[in-house]
Amino acid sequence: MTTQQPLSQEEQLFETAISSILTQGYAIVDGFLPSEATSAILQDLQQAFAEGRFDQAGIGNQQSYQMNQEIRRDRIHWLDHKQPPAPCQLFFSRLQEMIAYFNRTCYLGIRDLEMHYARYGAGGFYKRHLDVFHRSQARKLSAIFYLNENWQEADGGALVMYFPQEDGGEHSLKVLPEAGRLVLFNSQLIEHEVQQSARERCSITGWLKDEPALF
Ligand code: OGA
Ligand code: MN
Repeated sequence: MTTQQPLSQEEQLFETAISSILTQGYAIVDGFLPSEATSAILQDLQQAFAEGRFDQAGIGNQQSYQMNQEIRRDRIHWLDHKQPPAPCQLFFSRLQEMIAYFNRTCYLGIRDLEMHYARYGAGGFYKRHLDVFHRSQARKLSAIFYLNENWQEADGGALVMYFPQEDGGEHSLKVLPEAGRLVLFNSQLIEHEVQQSARERCSITGWLKDEPALF
């Protein structure tokens, strides 16, 4: 028998996350980054937004603007994860370490990432949906890292995940978008929504994929 090395604190965190994903379909990791690093990302996002570098988020390519607005009201700014803005570097390096751990211990085969800043203004929401399009099954895990300090229940903007039950019923879980919190869930299975937010709601949102991008 080989002697197992005790897990480092970081590996412990990743281990807890992956076992929760495998057993329950999701994981919530609080304190994924130190608070100073998280607020530096928020400042960078707000600056990019103020400079007009955000686009209206879409829902597939042939949807009209009007219909889109009925379904989601966030704006997004894509990030280059190979050359992220300086304030996001720690986030991406921790995320890559986590992916390497998942791949090493659970053969998840995550080989690519796509990530964007997302910003909901007051009144913003995203109706219930699944993150995969029939066009592509490449998205394995959805990952959302929240940037909002002191989020209160009354601020709305909760992420609600839905879990079908064996008796045909449904169970739901509400997660507040509090700064430093990373939520991961199975993109293929977990329907979810963003309830209407009463204040600005910011995150890095994206997907861990099992095939490289085409371009
Ligand atoms: C999405 C999404 C959830 C959230 O962008 O697809 O569901 O909590 N986001 O921001
Ligand atoms: Mn989604």
